[in-house]
Amino acid sequence: MKLDARKARIFLDDVANIVKVDKHGMLKLIGALPDEMATLLDRPVPRLHGLEGHTNIVFSGMGGSGIVGDIIRSWLGPKAGIPFFVNRGYDIPPFVGHGTLFLAVSFSGNTAETLSSFDRAIAKHCTVVALSSGGKLEKRAKEEGVPFYRLEAPEGTAPRAALGHMLVPLAQVLEAAGLVKARSELEEAVAVLRYLRGRIGPNVPCKYNESKQAALAVLGFIPVIHSYGILEVAARRWKTQFNENAKVLAWADYLPEMDHNSLVGWNQDKAGKGHACVILRDAPSESDDPRMTERIEATKELAWSNSSNIIEVYSEGAGPLSRIISTIYKGDYASVYLAALRGVDPLPVQAIETLKSRLGKGHLPRKGNPHNG
Ligand code: PA5
Repeated sequence: MKLDARKARIFLDDVANIVKVDKHGMLKLIGALPDEMATLLDRPVPRLHGLEGHTNIVFSGMGGSGIVGDIIRSWLGPKAGIPFFVNRGYDIPPFVGHGTLFLAVSFSGNTAETLSSFDRAIAKHCTVVALSSGGKLEKRAKEEGVPFYRLEAPEGTAPRAALGHMLVPLAQVLEAAGLVKARSELEEAVAVLRYLRGRIGPNVPCKYNESKQAALAVLGFIPVIHSYGILEVAARRWKTQFNENAKVLAWADYLPEMDHNSLVGWNQDKAGKGHACVILRDAPSESDDPRMTERIEATKELAWSNSSNIIEVYSEGAGPLSRIISTIYKGDYASVYLAALRGVDPLPVQAIETLKSRLGKGHLPRKGNPHNG
């Protein structure tokens, strides 16, 4: 189904159209994020001992699990006072050892890269904590006798929709390690997300709905999402949510680095017209350092003006977590609206499933789950 701009608006303004395409209920899972976080915050914090006194933190995970590491690093990394590294892949960095607090996170518990990095971290005598909803990671954690946290997301949840289920316990692990205080920022984030849900949820028409407007702006183009500083993780999440939920190519790029390379391509390649630019902005960072505002304006002129559309999306809330997660939330909704406009069911990711089973590792779907998890 190909929709012109006017028809696309009319389509999105009827919730029934979105629900019809969203067969496995991704919209509901996204809508549940703040409530899940609130519920998890009310649960007793798991008793974890022996986590103090480390010299670095390594988070290991892929895809929808890996992004949680980026969020935690952007939010709590600077407060932890020790280096925080996000590891993606089979191997682990050479500095990992006795002084490392190693967080192995796989929503399904069956992702080959995360299982391999877990084994390597054990072999290097790190303090390992594992989180999964079951699978091989749970089995391995129990065999090794390392702390294991079971993620209790509803049946059929996709890893990328279980963000709150991973974020809250991980923040609690870092609190238990005496590295950070996370609770008040998590509470603020819950309030900001609840408020935002009332503005960008499916019942709000395009005219007032920033996420629907974002989906309309990128429809028919390759979205390129730009950000900087604490919002780098949000650009990555927008990209991956567009990839997986809307099943489109999408890219993320970062300032100021892109002004030293991508800028030239934007400036001189006519293919820019096949793209739509999303710029994720954080007003508090820009008021701390106005050089970024100046840079964005100059980059618009020299680069992004050669795309077909430019939209700007601002973070909301006061603390870093709220600013990161509010920006992510706008993209999560936008990705489902784009999926609906394209007529694709957001939840299943057949290509990932096919790849995992072809590689012969890391794939044991939970019963009733159409997803790879
Ligand atoms: O969002 C997804 O479904 C994927 O990106 C998965 O998160 C990724 O394949 C890793 O799987 P898991 O999160 O179960 O370790």
